[in-house]
Amino acid sequence: MRKQTYNWGILGTGKIAKRFMQAVFYVPEARVVAVGSRAQHTADAFGSHFGIPKRYASYQAVLEDPEVEIVYVATPHSLHAENTIQALQAGKHVLCEKPFTLNARQAEEVVAYARQSGRFVMEGMWTRCFPLMREVVRRVEAGELGDLSLVQADFGFQPPFDPTSRLFNPELGGGALLDVGIYPVALALQFLGVPHQMVSSAIVGQTGVDEVCAMIFHYSAGALAVLSASIRVNTPKQAVLCGTKGTILLPAPWWKPSEAYLTRADGSQEHLQFSYEGDGLQFEIRHVHDCLHKGLTESPWMRLDETLILMRLMDALRAQWGVAYPQERA
Ligand SMILES: NC(=O)c1ccc[n+]([C@@H]2O[C@H](COP(=O)([O-])OP(=O)(O)OC[C@H]3O[C@@H](n4cnc5c(N)ncnc54)[C@H](OP(=O)(O)O)[C@@H]3O)[C@@H](O)[C@H]2O)c1
Repeated sequence: MRKQTYNWGILGTGKIAKRFMQAVFYVPEARVVAVGSRAQHTADAFGSHFGIPKRYASYQAVLEDPEVEIVYVATPHSLHAENTIQALQAGKHVLCEKPFTLNARQAEEVVAYARQSGRFVMEGMWTRCFPLMREVVRRVEAGELGDLSLVQADFGFQPPFDPTSRLFNPELGGGALLDVGIYPVALALQFLGVPHQMVSSAIVGQTGVDEVCAMIFHYSAGALAVLSASIRVNTPKQAVLCGTKGTILLPAPWWKPSEAYLTRADGSQEHLQFSYEGDGLQFEIRHVHDCLHKGLTESPWMRLDETLILMRLMDALRAQWGVAYPQERA
């Protein structure tokens, strides 16, 4: 018998936490029972706006609330490891926003905790949960594109420059790669696996983080991925999977897709469509419930081993650019 409700607690009251609350509206079985913030007044404002009954002036109080079953970590990257480990220690399941942690060393520590806790833990790679993305995966696995030889994807946007914001501040894990480049890198990982060689370059800005980056991954099976990301300029925000029998184009914004164009080698075209309401985070929330219903401790769509590989790839890319966070310096 499926549970009627799943009780969530949220850590942080920023932009993505607000979008999460809007998505909860589309998932009747999700109930957000508590929110934690660094300050009581922000917890209260968030809680009263979204009708959350318990509003705490600390993240720990959410973790200690016995009613909370699943914790949604919506804090800056630099806090993800600590927040997730503390949630696991409190016996909670965790959906942690991407990137899972600042680097692979932290990710390995969290995954070790996760595996011994017996709790469900997933990195919030919401792109993989969209029905249209599941359909693209199905088409590729069914061989409709033939052998994939090229994956192209980009994600660049232009926020105002603010050296104190989590996007530019190295203390908070700033930089294009960890914030948005992670999506193209995860797409290449999903469809082509682990590259044997990565060539890349980045424009490092005045705060010492990558503001524009470009990457070429080379795969021994005979494929390439051409990826880019930016927090300085807008980019087309498209993804293309190119195979010997056809290509699939995911138009902007490809990471939350509602449509795709499949063009076969004979020139025939198919328009794939799956529209949805709101922003689409509801698919990830439902997926977490489905995993819990099945008694899983990991998402089959974003396994912890993939999260570890993703973090290792991003560490290696940052090493190529000389971008290190203060927490990583001895
Ligand atoms: N899946 C997605 O599409 C998506 C989109 C955006 C972001 N994200 C991820 O979600 C995480 C949060 O991003 P966001 O855009 O929501 O960030 P944000 O608007 O800056 O909010 C982050 C929240 O974290 C808390 N926080 C704790 N320590 C902080 C500190 N030292 N400085 C600033 N905030 C601090 C704050 O909440 P309190 O003041 O209430 O404690 C703040 O509101 C990031 O890891 C990001 O990669 C995912």
